[in-house]
Amino acid sequence: MLPRRHSFQPYQTNLSRRLHGVSLVLFLLTHLFVIQSAVATNPFTCYANDFVSPDHAVGLYASKFRGAQDTIVAWANEMNSYGPWSVTDKPVVAPSGNKHDYMSWAPYQWPDCSKAGNKTALSPSIMWKTCPYVFRDGQVNPDRTTIDDFQSFFNLSDAILYNSLAFTFQNQSSSVYSQNAVKYIKTWFLDPDTSMNPNLNYAQMNRGPKGQTGEYTGILDLRGFVKIASGILILRQHGSSDWTSDIDSQMIAWCKKYIDWLQTAPTAKQAASAKNNHGTFYVNQLMALKLIVNDTAGAAEFGRGYFGGTFKGQMKSNGDQPMEASRSRPYHYRNFNIAGMITNARLLKYADPTSNDWNTTSNGATIQTAVDFLMATNPSATNEANVTAEIYPNVAAVAATYGDPQGKYVKFLKASGFPYTDDASFLWDQPLAGGIPSPDSTKGSSSSSSLTIPANGTGPWLLSVVLFMLVWRTR
Ligand SMILES: *[C@@H]1O[C@H](CO)[C@@H](O)[C@H](O)[C@H]1NC(C)=O
Ligand SMILES: *[C@@H]1O[C@H](CO)[C@@H](O)[C@H](O)[C@H]1NC(C)=O
Ligand SMILES: *[C@@H]1O[C@H](CO)[C@@H](O)[C@H](O)[C@H]1NC(C)=O
Ligand SMILES: *[C@@H]1O[C@H](CO)[C@@H](O)[C@H](O)[C@H]1NC(C)=O
Ligand SMILES: *[C@@H]1O[C@H](CO)[C@@H](O)[C@H](O)[C@H]1NC(C)=O
Ligand SMILES: *[C@@H]1O[C@H](CO)[C@@H](O)[C@H](O)[C@H]1NC(C)=O
Ligand SMILES: *[C@@H]1O[C@H](CO)[C@@H](O)[C@H](O)[C@H]1NC(C)=O
Repeated sequence: MLPRRHSFQPYQTNLSRRLHGVSLVLFLLTHLFVIQSAVATNPFTCYANDFVSPDHAVGLYASKFRGAQDTIVAWANEMNSYGPWSVTDKPVVAPSGNKHDYMSWAPYQWPDCSKAGNKTALSPSIMWKTCPYVFRDGQVNPDRTTIDDFQSFFNLSDAILYNSLAFTFQNQSSSVYSQNAVKYIKTWFLDPDTSMNPNLNYAQMNRGPKGQTGEYTGILDLRGFVKIASGILILRQHGSSDWTSDIDSQMIAWCKKYIDWLQTAPTAKQAASAKNNHGTFYVNQLMALKLIVNDTAGAAEFGRGYFGGTFKGQMKSNGDQPMEASRSRPYHYRNFNIAGMITNARLLKYADPTSNDWNTTSNGATIQTAVDFLMATNPSATNEANVTAEIYPNVAAVAATYGDPQGKYVKFLKASGFPYTDDASFLWDQPLAGGIPSPDSTKGSSSSSSLTIPANGTGPWLLSVVLFMLVWRTR
């Protein structure tokens, strides 16, 4: 594959790089005055899932994307403060005794030690094995985070996605961002001391005497593979010199082994046949892995299988999703499954550009109908707190894909107060109205056009120049 290079040096992100490591005061002051329009970077959000086509990461961005680019760089930096990650970091080893095995605990399982016959309090590790565990839907057992593999993998996949995107903001074959993305992949998957075995034999264990192996629900833990695939495709397409052919073939070999596991292990097959969100996200993951191993035709085949199968049974004609609606948190689960549907549609469109599955119906409803239904649903009716933000990426994706001729989606986003044009997803949820109005916003920026001088007088502008020079010199 010929690496594609794009020439682009966005002023603003370049500035962010230079700011890296200089004093917070200067950072804040220059941000206040120079990057006026991009002050508000959205707080970090872990999207339920999303696929960013490498064709979207063009490395040539109009200035209306400045806020989104800023957010992406900020999120990459934030994730970089946690990485690298490894399954060997956890304080408890999986029942196999192999520290390279991934492990997580099912969220809604609680110990019932009343019949354990213990005279004194049990140590946690005895309790996890001997006390029966019982299911309490929607109630997360807080000790779940004792084992951080699932959270580590979420952060890993976000780190790879945002570092790869931030790398495209530089006009270079290598940057600290591509180096980080590659380091994280090597640490989690490839380095002999820290690598993960390619299986989920201990994902979302129920615990207790009958719960010492993983459940099918645990396959969901690695849905972030879509973000990792996005990152790898971006590194490849942009010709990152850090993503060497040696690393590429090692990663392909790892993914092929894991694909084998995903297609043969009993719990994985159970997830594959699930009719609800577990089935949707299983396809997300498998398609992403197929793209990593360069089996694009195979990825398309799984995507078509989903839209011709599981998807057909997931909606009613009004766009409601009965299997998600019956859960303890229906607003959340409906959004969650829509994110999986959108991701499958995006993966399939990338794998097979002739596909038309955004138009495929499930009992007459499309993905758009599902989002429209949810836009008219009030989460407080089901006592769900703080979940409204989950719909925003779905609304933006639908507006970008189906168009927004009446402006109803943008109106919805604006009315919510959510600064969607500063969100990371604004970069790839296109076309979508908004962003910084600027003369070049329709045709992509040239190297010099990304600097927008604040319109409100010269005072702040002059100050910003002074500060900028100061910052420049402190490098
Ligand atoms: C990007 O880098 C190439 C050389 O690697 C250079 O020719 C080109 O002018 C650069 N583009 C910008 C916008 O700086
Ligand atoms: C058994 O151990 C559990 C966990 O330490 C504790 O909560 C429970 O009270 C104990 N039961 C008895 C009868 O000692
Ligand atoms: C993952 O990132 C979140 C911030 O989004 C942070 O609170 C958490 O500690 C991180 N966990 C790991 C294991 O990196
Ligand atoms: C990926 O597959 C395509 C055809 O499906 C092939 O042309 C290309 O050379 C492959 N790339 C690599 C890196 O194997
Ligand atoms: C919802 O968010 C608010 C503000 O961010 C916070 O104070 C509150 O505790 C949250 N409620 C729940 C149930 O998480
Ligand atoms: C739906 O199908 C029509 C007709 O083929 C096409 O014009 C339109 O772009 C499709 N919509 C999406 C979102 O793919
Ligand atoms: C510019 O000034 C106007 C009016 O004083 C104010 O409403 C606006 O927020 C200012 N814009 C910026 C970017 O400071």
